[in-house]
Amino acid sequence: MNRPRSVLVVDDDAHILEVLEMRLTSMGFAVTATVDAEAALAALGTRGFDAALFDLRMDPIDGIALTRAAHARQPRLPVLIMTAHGTIENAVEAIKEGAFDFLTKPFVTEELRGKLARAVADRRWARDRNLLRTVGETLASAASMDRVLSAVAEGTMEATETERTVVFLRESDRLVPKASAGTSSTPLDRLAPAAEAAIARRDSVTMGGAEGRATLAVPLMVAGTPEGALVVENPSHVVATDDDLDLLRVFASQGAVALGNARELSRLRSGALAALGRVASQVAHELNNPLGGLALYARLLEDRFKTAGDEEGVQLTHKVGRAVKHLADLVTDITAYGRPPELKREPTSLNALIEECLSLVQDRVVDKEIRVVSKLAPDVGTVLADARELKKVLLNLFVNALEAMEPHGTLTIRTQRADERTIEASVEDTGCGIDDETRARMFDLFFTTKANGTGLGMPIARSVVDRHGGRLDIDSEPGVGTRVRIELPRQ
Ligand SMILES: Nc1ncnc2c1ncn2[C@@H]1O[C@H](COP(=O)(O)OP(=O)(O)O)[C@@H](O)[C@H]1O
Ligand SMILES: [Mg+2]
Repeated sequence: MNRPRSVLVVDDDAHILEVLEMRLTSMGFAVTATVDAEAALAALGTRGFDAALFDLRMDPIDGIALTRAAHARQPRLPVLIMTAHGTIENAVEAIKEGAFDFLTKPFVTEELRGKLARAVADRRWARDRNLLRTVGETLASAASMDRVLSAVAEGTMEATETERTVVFLRESDRLVPKASAGTSSTPLDRLAPAAEAAIARRDSVTMGGAEGRATLAVPLMVAGTPEGALVVENPSHVVATDDDLDLLRVFASQGAVALGNARELSRLRSGALAALGRVASQVAHELNNPLGGLALYARLLEDRFKTAGDEEGVQLTHKVGRAVKHLADLVTDITAYGRPPELKREPTSLNALIEECLSLVQDRVVDKEIRVVSKLAPDVGTVLADARELKKVLLNLFVNALEAMEPHGTLTIRTQRADERTIEASVEDTGCGIDDETRARMFDLFFTTKANGTGLGMPIARSVVDRHGGRLDIDSEPGVGTRVRIELPRQ
């Protein structure tokens, strides 16, 4: 499928134009020749060219102005400027204005051939270089699925000079746009048919889009199955070249590899996490009884020391008791995560629960001189919830927020009715914020960035909210602060 390279030639001298057209055609180029700069620009707006030859001296638009206008339409088009007055100044100026090279008239066939070949090769080379760079970046950033998909979209857009790139993925029986780069006025769902067609054919398809836009779609094949499609939209009427399709295929296979990797990784991780959770709750279970015994003995000892009037002994056993209680609490948390208790749902006032939890962290608030702003909407109503469980969520969020802040920070707590069926609560701090790495792992069991952290707070919070049929979202900016939002169904 080797398409001849296409060249656009503009010269206001019809005779020269004719000679050039003949020579270039005999060299195997597909030539579009015109004396009219406007007509040339119109052609540039409707189809891609591999190279262009513009005369320098033309009226009313000279070769340099035409180069600029051409590059507004096709930024990487290599332009050769033709001049009968091959002075260094002309050449330098043309190249400064973005021309690829210049040619002096009368033409020497070998020079014409050589420079055009170089222009075309250079364009490919620039594309390939771009391609390699973006592919490398895509692979390097293959951390989360979202990031992989947007890297694929961005990369494709960069390398193919298209107007917009959209990645569609199959979710149950629907195609969902997952990531996009660039802008276009076409609504996303208008691109879905192209994606569907590419998936059905398991091969690339070209379609006319809205307002004459051309749409190209390539399936994303993961392990032999089309999991989605990469769709690009070209500016009005620009006909895709074979190069464009090749490039798109490279990106689609790249995207598919990244997608497969990200899926596999998250499958492995969730498997490993589940195993970790099982081991942890087994261990916790084994620790439960002896810890209970220890707590009891510590209390008995403390009593004996008290009776004997041994103040130091009392202090020491008290410390032992506290340490044991801390361990027992930890064990309870781990066991609860591994085998969550049945929810005891009752109509619960979220505002009252928040007030109660705030009073439980009052010491820390005072220690750090934190300003607490609570904006609790009086009309939020009640949720049908297990208050004990929900308390764990709020306490964990408050403690995390307080731990993230330097003294004098602000803790803001809001509740409001999100809609008829949902209550929303948010806990916002002016703390250190959360970086991408932490963000990706903070819901993992035992993941912590703190010297004395347990890494249980966030997984427990999410699990409780999930079991109540709600959702938990995080908004954070490193160095600025964090807002955790939970949504719960109203009673
Ligand atoms: N409000 C917050 N601000 C900054 N980082 C947070 C916040 N909440 C949670 N994190 C991050 O998430 C990690 C996990 O939190 P969590 O599960 O509660 O465990 P722990 O608090 O014991 O570290 C924390 O170590 C911290 O890095
Ligand atoms: Mg915590």
